[in-house]
Amino acid sequence: MTTPTIELKPSSSPLSDAEREAVLANPGFGRHFTDHMVTIKWTEGRGWHDGQLVPYGPLSLDPATTVLHYAQEIFEGLKAYRRPDGSVVTFRPEANARRFQSSARRLAMPELPVETFLEACDRLVQQDKDWVPAHGGESSLYLRPFMIATEVGLGVKPANEYLFVVIASPAGAYFPGGVKPVSIWVSEDRVRAVPGGMGDAKTGGNYAASLLAQAEAAAKGCDQVAYLDAVEHKWVEELGGMNLYFVYEDRIVTPELTGSLLAGVTRDSLLTLAKDLGYASEEGRISIDQWRADTENGTLKEVFACGTAAVITPVGTVKCASGEWQQSGGEPGEVTRKLRQALLDIQTGKAEDVHGWTHEL
Ligand code: COI
Repeated sequence: MTTPTIELKPSSSPLSDAEREAVLANPGFGRHFTDHMVTIKWTEGRGWHDGQLVPYGPLSLDPATTVLHYAQEIFEGLKAYRRPDGSVVTFRPEANARRFQSSARRLAMPELPVETFLEACDRLVQQDKDWVPAHGGESSLYLRPFMIATEVGLGVKPANEYLFVVIASPAGAYFPGGVKPVSIWVSEDRVRAVPGGMGDAKTGGNYAASLLAQAEAAAKGCDQVAYLDAVEHKWVEELGGMNLYFVYEDRIVTPELTGSLLAGVTRDSLLTLAKDLGYASEEGRISIDQWRADTENGTLKEVFACGTAAVITPVGTVKCASGEWQQSGGEPGEVTRKLRQALLDIQTGKAEDVHGWTHEL
């Protein structure tokens, strides 16, 4: 695999300092984008080439570009944080780079070398570092690397041309309520992914498949939908774009990776971080009936969702066809709060990073 160099074409019209500061004061999630983006092409027989750091702007695509028809697309999400000394780090970008390769294999796309993924993210953050929010708040710079099939034609086959792009967006809380508990609708009929499908790949199709159930959840007054496995409609898998954790008195448990759920980087970090804080942590299977019964018998103390965008967000009300219940009285639980703080402290450089998770630019 060749590693292309990335040439700079600076933006001629970046936002003024005052305009950028106004955005950073209230970034929301995914609403504003920085001044530049990285693009790298792949062509069969030539490999990766034409790496560029260019002004952020529209991509021009022929209407017959294959991604528009057959959804051959993958993406990642990772964040850059400002440390107390003003320097900037990203969190576990190699893990995202490796997952990007695994998603590429599943979608019959070329694998981007890990070092090219890292260089593309680093170059964009370095160029647009004024967009990384100040240390001290909960905001960060969310990076969205993605790859699309760019061959023109309507034949159904792996494309012979691809475009890799990294864009960046200042991010506050994913949920408008911040760390307020979110409400969950457990979808007992609609499924997100099936065994042998592509549930463990980070591809837009999985998110498209989640939208109708998400809309149904919203119609029932819930913030998010939780999916059960596609075979028995019984085992809890994940939310539309986040993993789940169950906090028992003596351990924390997250649904095991069965192939139909995403191996979240935050999920993986918490398996380790929980142990650092003295909690046993494990992967296991939790049925929807057990979720409810253990909440009602008091052994299941807290439930939270986790992901790069959502960080750690407590679950409050849970609704399903047969009724509803509350986790930890509808308040963020103590273990959820402790893990959230410990993770954010490492990410933002307030606590020592003993696992070597932060990547300096
Ligand atoms: C992330 O947490 O990075 C996600 O991918 C979730 C979502 C915003 C798609």
